[in-house]
Amino acid sequence: MLGLFTKKANSLLGIDISSTSVKLLELSRSGSRYRVEAYAVEPLPPNAVVEKNIADMEGVGQALGRVVAKARSGTKAAAVAVAGSAVITKTIEMDASLSDDELENQLRIEADQYIPYPLEEVALDFEVQGVSPRNPERAEVLLAACRRENVEVREAALALAGLNAKVVDVEAYALERAYGLLSPQLAGGHDELTVAVVDIGATMTTLSVLHNGRTIYTREQLFGGRQLTEEIQRRYGLSVEEAGLAKKQGGLPDDYDSEVLQPFREAVVQQVSRSLQFFFAAGQFNDVDYILLAGGTASIPGLDRLIQQKIGTQTLVANPFADMALSNRVNAGALASDAPALMIACGLAMRSFD
Ligand SMILES: Nc1ncnc2c1ncn2[C@@H]1O[C@H](COP(=O)(O)OP(=O)(O)OP(=O)(O)O)[C@@H](O)[C@H]1O
Ligand SMILES: [Mg+2]
Repeated sequence: MLGLFTKKANSLLGIDISSTSVKLLELSRSGSRYRVEAYAVEPLPPNAVVEKNIADMEGVGQALGRVVAKARSGTKAAAVAVAGSAVITKTIEMDASLSDDELENQLRIEADQYIPYPLEEVALDFEVQGVSPRNPERAEVLLAACRRENVEVREAALALAGLNAKVVDVEAYALERAYGLLSPQLAGGHDELTVAVVDIGATMTTLSVLHNGRTIYTREQLFGGRQLTEEIQRRYGLSVEEAGLAKKQGGLPDDYDSEVLQPFREAVVQQVSRSLQFFFAAGQFNDVDYILLAGGTASIPGLDRLIQQKIGTQTLVANPFADMALSNRVNAGALASDAPALMIACGLAMRSFD
């Protein structure tokens, strides 16, 4: 087995900076099989990240320093993401005969037609999607732009922890990449499926609908596990930290399940149902084949079953590591419990193999 999973020299740490924690994941690959080389999660100070914006760079930098120390990986190159809501994308047509360099130059000249910000404040990226269906001499190009400061603040926070942001991606693309690992587990195969990925974090619930592996819809709601934490605090007189631990490790009084957790599960069902109604109302779909639960709150036992029963759609908890090998440095139990919250970190770590 030795040397089977060789870390490429250009291996990247997937770093997800979310509102409550920083998450680090490193993968290696042998053929089509992945192995988790390193992983760690560290909490962020309150309000260090507010609505996907880094408000306290020092606090984020320090948490990144701790997560790097905890993961004990020697890799310094990283892939991070900006939120999809911070990015403007447009599909445009360009001359198909242009080389990548020529295309980039041309795009820099023309981009001000498509981007509503001064170009010197904008970070641009593009990807050729293929030949235009209307004109074989034109290529369809996906143009993505976000404010440069969004990228720079992430680079700077990583630098505080000695990391180098080699790749700056978009969260939705990272999610799609990680979803690619899960779709073979879903009956019906990759191509025909319409799947709702519901990421329930601490403050935010994001519905992403993927069709043929591509995101066709996203919607955010202000709802998450914090509501449960606050209810535990209020009812049992605990601090935020104590309540957060109790959620994961148990040890709460007997009435917790019936009086606190079950009403919260019902509230989650309501949120998921409402988000899906918005999706159905917006377009040509009136059904999804699966619901995949992601985010830390997806780890609440029995949530998948209740959603499936109430909404009538087969519901699974996302585990991007189901088919992966684990380095013996990785705590398998902790990884299994954190797995649904690591979809974005996983999609970012997969950038190592582009
Ligand atoms: N095993 C568990 N059981 C119940 N809740 C859990 C468990 N693990 C994590 N959580 C909860 O999940 C939430 C954190 O999830 P996640 O890491 O996905 O959030 P986030 O991405 O930082 O937040 P947001 O998406 O709102 O910005 C917290 O409310 C935490 O208490
Ligand atoms: Mg999140």
